[in-house]
Amino acid sequence: MAESLSISRNVSKSDQYESLVPQIEALVAGESDLIANMANVAAALYSAFGHLWIGFYLVKEDELVLGPFQGPIACTRIQKGKGVCGTSWEEEKSIIVDDVDAFAGHIACSTQSKSEIVIPIKSKEGKVIGVLDVDSADLEMFDEVDQKYLERLVASLS
Ligand code: SME
Repeated sequence: MAESLSISRNVSKSDQYESLVPQIEALVAGESDLIANMANVAAALYSAFGHLWIGFYLVKEDELVLGPFQGPIACTRIQKGKGVCGTSWEEEKSIIVDDVDAFAGHIACSTQSKSEIVIPIKSKEGKVIGVLDVDSADLEMFDEVDQKYLERLVASLS
């Protein structure tokens, strides 16, 4: 297993993902434990992009429970259909929020969070088992480029 990642700086976001995603895929391919892989994915994305908060929530019974993350401490439990994470789980689709204040029901774990993207993680059978949540301190940080690569990344987890 690689012990360090090669992170491209001063390149476009697409190029940064193009360099990073195969390295993360190789990293998780060598480990079968979901939590260990989530922890490394969160650390890799955090060190590459420096966003405010990057982490996972896992479906446990009827709610999402905080999993591996990087960044400030966060809400530990989110109900299905609540906030961006709970909505992504319920609707089984990725959600990009340009301005969290404009998203009805947004859960503000941190007042610094201004925009976010949430990607559902599906099992091989297509059931949502958790979500990846990335929060930024800037408005309109995320777009379809993030969605494309983050969806590819979470697919490597299941
Ligand atoms: N903002 C999220 C909650 C999770 S944290 O921001 C880490 C939401 O609305 O679901």
